[in-house]
Amino acid sequence: MIVAENLVKEFRVYERRPGLLGSLGTLLSREHRIVRAVSGVSFEIPAGVKAAYIGANGAGKSTTVKMLTGVMSPTSGRGLVAGLEPYRERRRNAANIGVVFGQRSQLWWDLPVADSFRILRRIYDIPDTVYHRNMELYRRLLDLDALGTTPVRQLSLGQRMRAEVAASLLHDPAVVFLDEPTVGLDLVLKEAVRALVNHVNAELGTTVMLTSHDIGDITAICDQVLVVNRGEVVHQGGMHELLRTADTRAVVFEHQDGPGTAEAVALVESSLPGVTARAADGGRIRVDYPVGRWSARQVMGFLLEHFDLVDCVAPEPDLETVLRRIYTGRPAAEGVPV
Ligand SMILES: Nc1ncnc2c1ncn2[C@@H]1O[C@H](COP(=O)(O)OP(=O)(O)OP(=O)(O)O)[C@@H](O)[C@H]1O
Ligand SMILES: [Mg+2]
Repeated sequence: MIVAENLVKEFRVYERRPGLLGSLGTLLSREHRIVRAVSGVSFEIPAGVKAAYIGANGAGKSTTVKMLTGVMSPTSGRGLVAGLEPYRERRRNAANIGVVFGQRSQLWWDLPVADSFRILRRIYDIPDTVYHRNMELYRRLLDLDALGTTPVRQLSLGQRMRAEVAASLLHDPAVVFLDEPTVGLDLVLKEAVRALVNHVNAELGTTVMLTSHDIGDITAICDQVLVVNRGEVVHQGGMHELLRTADTRAVVFEHQDGPGTAEAVALVESSLPGVTARAADGGRIRVDYPVGRWSARQVMGFLLEHFDLVDCVAPEPDLETVLRRIYTGRPAAEGVPV
C-alpha cells in the first residue's frame, strides 16, 4: 500500500555569513552545501498493516512522510501510495490519505473545530452515514464535543491534537500518516489516540504509518517496525525480530540461603567476565550478558550450579536498549546512563 523505492531527498542549505554584508555576500555568491536528509530509502508497508517508522532526531522521518504525502517531491527515487505518486497527483492522493504532523497544524487556525470538520466534510464529499458514524466515534473516544466553538489557535496542545487526529480520519482514508501524533499529550489522551487508531485499523483495515519517539505508541499500535538511521532504513520487520537484534540479554533470578545479594552480585561478575549483575526489586538479581560472549545456557548453567534458585526468568530485551544501540552506533552497555 505504501512503497518507497530508493527515495532520496537533498536540501540545499545556504550558509549565512554574520552581519548585513555577510547576508549580501551569501546572496551574491550562493554558497551552499547539500544536506542529504533521506538517502535511498526503500520499504513496503502492505495494506492493513500498522508500521512504526522510527529513528533518532534528524534521521529523516518527517522528510520521508512529506514525500509520501505529496508535500514535497523526492530528489530521486519514487514513492507510491495506493498506486499513486503523491507529489505528482496531490489531489487524487489526498482522497486516499489522512495526515497528522504533530509539529504543525493542518486545521484552519481561526476557525472553531466544528467548522473545520464541516469544511472537510464538503471537501472530501463525505457521505452522511460516514460523517455521523465518525463524529460519534470521536465524541466517544476523544471527547471531541468539549472543544466547542473555540478557534483552533486558542486550543491547548492536547485539545488541538485531538482535533488533528480526528480530522485526519474523518473521510475514512485507506492510509493514515501520523507524524508524532501524541507529542505533548497526557497519558489518558495518548491512550485515547492509540485506541482510535487501533479501532479504525481493525474496523476499516486502514494502513498506518506512525512516527513517534514514544515507545508506548509503538508497542500499543504497531505490528511492523521500520528503523531509519542517518537517512537509511536499517531494520524492517516485526517487533520481535527487532528485539532479537539486541546484543545483550538478561536473566533475573531469586535465590534462597547461600550468599547474600552483594556477595552474589560479586560472584557472578567475577566469574563471568563482561557480565553485569545488580540487585533488582524484591531481593532479585538482574544479570545482563553480552550475546556474542556468553550463551543463555552458560549463564543459566552457572546460576543453577551456584545458587539455590527460587525463580529465574529471561525477560525480552527492551526496545529502548535496542534503539539506543542503533541510534548511537555503540554497544548497548556503553550507552546506558548510570
Ligand atoms: N527544509 C529543509 N531544509 C534543509 N534541511 C532540512 C529541511 N528539512 C529537514 N532538513 C534536514 O534533514 C534532516 C532530516 O530531518 P527530518 O525532519 O526528516 O528528521 P526527523 O527524523 O523527522 O527528526 P525528528 O525526530 O527530530 O522529527 C535533518 O538534518 C534536517 O535538518
Ligand atoms: Mg520529524
